[in-house]
Amino acid sequence: MSGPILQISDVSCYYGAMRAVNGVSLEVLKGEIVAIIGANGSGKSTLMKSVAGLIRPESGRIKFEGEDISGVPAHRIIYKGISYVPEGRRLFANLSVRENLELGAFGERDRRLVNERIASVFELFPILKERERQLARTMSGGEQQMCAIGRGLMSAPKLLMLDELSLGLMPSLVEKVLESVVEINKKGVTVLLVEQMVQEALEIASRGYVIQVGRIVRDGAADELLNSDEVRKAYMGM
Ligand SMILES: Nc1ncnc2c1ncn2[C@@H]1O[C@H](COP(=O)(O)OP(=O)(O)OP(=O)(O)O)[C@@H](O)[C@H]1O
Ligand SMILES: [Mg+2]
Repeated sequence: MSGPILQISDVSCYYGAMRAVNGVSLEVLKGEIVAIIGANGSGKSTLMKSVAGLIRPESGRIKFEGEDISGVPAHRIIYKGISYVPEGRRLFANLSVRENLELGAFGERDRRLVNERIASVFELFPILKERERQLARTMSGGEQQMCAIGRGLMSAPKLLMLDELSLGLMPSLVEKVLESVVEINKKGVTVLLVEQMVQEALEIASRGYVIQVGRIVRDGAADELLNSDEVRKAYMGM
């Protein structure tokens, strides 16, 4: 683990006149898993979309590997090494698993490279190999989520951003999917994740940020947040 790979400084994002992200600063170090936690509507997805280039921040600065990427469009962000797995998976419903994965490679022309990446996704999620030709819409929620993560890996990202992986999955599957995130991280991919399954997310993360109505209200080591009464009451129903 070394210096920061992602630095978000005082970023604000608006939808019309509504401020969804309010002066957020956050840092992710190379090799880390960092979790962002917060209630519905607190601005988690908006923040990730601003890093992914899908939303242009109104103010503030986003740096990736030391380079200012604020306002850089989404397709160029992907080439720089950031991949975003959106909330709700957003697979191409009528395409097969393999076709969805291939689209994640974003025009990579080196066939061998694409096949290598598909092979490593299949290694991570063997069930996807079995389902290779199956249409995405006919797969279970868990399989679809694995396919969405796999697609996110197809651009060989340095930073993988995962938005609510657990959405609609039963607890045992959530654990399995989060275990795969640890495996991905061990292979050298830095991970920023947004999660409502707060306990599970903090168990795999090294650090976390708590966001409330667009503002970071707390940050710290994951175990420190896990043991905080305040966090447990507000986000783990304890
Ligand atoms: N496209 C949009 N147009 C207008 N308002 C939006 C849009 N997307 C999100 N918002 C609003 O911005 C605020 C933050 O939304 P965001 O989706 O970032 O929250 P979130 O923390 O990801 O919530 P959730 O946990 O429900 O996914 C919310 O009040 C939401 O209603
Ligand atoms: Mg969201």
